[in-house]
Amino acid sequence: MSRHGANPLLPGSGLIAILGAGSLGRLWAGYLPAGKVAFIPRHNATVDAGVESLSYRLQRFDGSALSVTVPWLDSSATPPSVLLVTTKAGDTLDALQSTLPDLPPAMPVVLFQNGMGSQQAVAERWPHQPILAASTTEGANRPEPGRTVHAGKGETWVGPLTDNATSLLSAVVQALTASGLRVHPETNIQQRLWDKLVINAGINAFTALLNCRNGDILTHPFYLEYIGTLCTEIAAVLAAEGGQPLAPEAIRRRIETVARSTSENTSSMLSDRQQGRTTEIDFINGYVARRGRVHGIDVSVNQMLTQRVHQLLPHS
Ligand SMILES: NC(=O)c1ccc[n+]([C@@H]2O[C@H](COP(=O)([O-])OP(=O)(O)OC[C@H]3O[C@@H](n4cnc5c(N)ncnc54)[C@H](OP(=O)(O)O)[C@@H]3O)[C@@H](O)[C@H]2O)c1
Repeated sequence: MSRHGANPLLPGSGLIAILGAGSLGRLWAGYLPAGKVAFIPRHNATVDAGVESLSYRLQRFDGSALSVTVPWLDSSATPPSVLLVTTKAGDTLDALQSTLPDLPPAMPVVLFQNGMGSQQAVAERWPHQPILAASTTEGANRPEPGRTVHAGKGETWVGPLTDNATSLLSAVVQALTASGLRVHPETNIQQRLWDKLVINAGINAFTALLNCRNGDILTHPFYLEYIGTLCTEIAAVLAAEGGQPLAPEAIRRRIETVARSTSENTSSMLSDRQQGRTTEIDFINGYVARRGRVHGIDVSVNQMLTQRVHQLLPHS
């Protein structure tokens, strides 16, 4: 495939469509080649008459800033080759429900949501569409309207969730690599999602409940009271789910290594709390609790954290 051309292994025009024009969606749109990317408008959204594109400033990780203009997709005119879904986990099913019927049935869909549960729900709902999941350590935020900041340079792993996506994996990775961001194929994406979930389950809820940065949880009595049992619950659920077994002590070491190395960071859940937005708790500790209940495992600490985060915000 030429760097900017259509990939013969993918359907459509070579265009990459993005559903969810938020921080992560704008990051990818800003790095992918201009002219090869488009945002999908919200269903029934009245994109202002005459406004055919979305413009914003992207501050790249190297400090340079550029103006980005991304058209809104007219799917009847240009069927995309790949769809990146960068909505929050709780919005994803609804967003796809109103969007996928207008898009090609053979088009691979790459889900970027944090946590677990939403990706599996999409794969179950559309088993005939090639569905992939991505796990990314890239970081993006929008400190003010019209400005997106690439705050953390990371890597992205992409892997198939449905069988029919397996043969498209390398073509999808190749298409995303045109961004210049680091993208790798991952045949066991479920395990990678679990690996990230384990860390998030031990950090995010505590930071949101204690209203503190990642590193500050480590000495807090509330964290110290519950982290041991939390890790025991996660280890039991992981084992029951058939993932790579991990001892509770190993889980705790992983959580604390990340909390220390990101000690000054504000977690996405704390940031959601501070901005009065719905959190993704149902797809992090809430997912561990749901899977634990299915297997008859005591998940009372995961349940307690989920309930307490819900109580923080009237709409979470
Ligand atoms: N940001 C990061 O650095 C990062 C890193 C790793 C993973 N992630 C994960 O990526 C996902 C997105 O995160 P984010 O930070 O980009 O969130 P975000 O800034 O809130 O972006 C989500 C976007 O989806 C849009 N949206 C919601 N419902 C929609 C619908 N029905 N149709 C079309 N668009 C819809 C939202 O529009 P409105 O603004 O109008 O609500 C918003 O623009 C989350 O699961 C997050 O955990 C993010």
